[in-house]
Amino acid sequence: MAENGQIRVGFIGTGGRARWHMERFAKMPEAQPVALVDTSADAMAAAVRAVPSYAELPQFSDYREMLRETRPDAVVISIPHTLHYEAIVAALGQGAHVLVEKPMVCGVEHAQDVIRLRDDKHLVVVVGYQRHYTGVWRWVHENVAAGRFGPVHFIEAWQCQNWGGGGWRGVPELSGGGQLNDSGGHLVDILLWSTGIRPSEVSAYQENRGLRVDRNTVISFRFPEEGLGNISIIGESQRKFDEGAQIWCRDARIRIDGMQGAAHLVVYREGVEEEVSADARPDYPVDEDANFLGSILGRDVPQATAESGLEAVRFIEAVQRSAERGVPVRL
Ligand SMILES: NC(=O)c1ccc[n+]([C@@H]2O[C@H](COP(=O)([O-])OP(=O)(O)OC[C@H]3O[C@@H](n4cnc5c(N)ncnc54)[C@H](O)[C@@H]3O)[C@@H](O)[C@H]2O)c1
Repeated sequence: MAENGQIRVGFIGTGGRARWHMERFAKMPEAQPVALVDTSADAMAAAVRAVPSYAELPQFSDYREMLRETRPDAVVISIPHTLHYEAIVAALGQGAHVLVEKPMVCGVEHAQDVIRLRDDKHLVVVVGYQRHYTGVWRWVHENVAAGRFGPVHFIEAWQCQNWGGGGWRGVPELSGGGQLNDSGGHLVDILLWSTGIRPSEVSAYQENRGLRVDRNTVISFRFPEEGLGNISIIGESQRKFDEGAQIWCRDARIRIDGMQGAAHLVVYREGVEEEVSADARPDYPVDEDANFLGSILGRDVPQATAESGLEAVRFIEAVQRSAERGVPVRL
């Protein structure tokens, strides 16, 4: 921690997503950005053009060197997916709290390692699943996962995006998979978090459509007790990034239409259809960056946890196996 009590934050990766985090941290008086890391000097130059208040920060091409020389209290990791694990381990190993972009890691064993290390070191890990901070999905979590409408017995959900698998995203060694592991992971995560269900078996097909990684995926799954669900991830779509879900509980059907903060929520219950207004709440963090800082300072708890990162990767890994082998896979 800086002498004035600020949390000193280093940024590992300065590409497209990192800039969102850089802009938010630049506006937080309790945070002090201290270093930028990227293997591309061009990416760092573009990042400081976009967020000029970072122009004077030391720049590194190797995060291990940054961790050694700068000793940040916290890091924000926004690099290709299969590189997350080693960066998380290096940061936690050196006593830095971690905000990591999704997917937290690629592989269940890596996710379990992260949780173990976080607990051994008494550090905070938050995953960049921003849907946890929207009013609509928070409402579903607080009502459906909490059992207000009785047990869940059916889920259907879909997401579409004009996703081309450009750059590292189309390289399996860096992406750990295609659109399912990229944007699709948001939908998988939020369904698991907001309903509290734990799938027991999946059966899936994936199509690459000319890429080296999956672009379109269709998944059927089972969950206890006698629950069924399906998820469609359509990476080959027209321009608008969109998604929706329906959740059938014993006492209600919940419909969510649209993306993140712009999503609408409708509840059908006892023959009545009600549009629920689930706005942001002053006692709830506005985004993952605020939640991360608040959790480090002890006035908040993580809402998008490493446990959510583990559940999402468990599901995605089983889907990838099922599609590859052409058989149902138990989780
Ligand atoms: N939460 C969201 O909605 C959201 C949106 C976009 C991206 N993301 C996530 O953010 C992460 C980055 O995606 P992006 O779109 O910013 O990609 P990007 O390609 O724009 O940026 C990635 C950066 O990482 C750098 N990099 C690669 N290897 C590195 C290493 N070993 N050390 C340091 N830097 C390295 C690259 O040079 C590049 O500048 C991914 O995990 C992605 O899934 C999340």
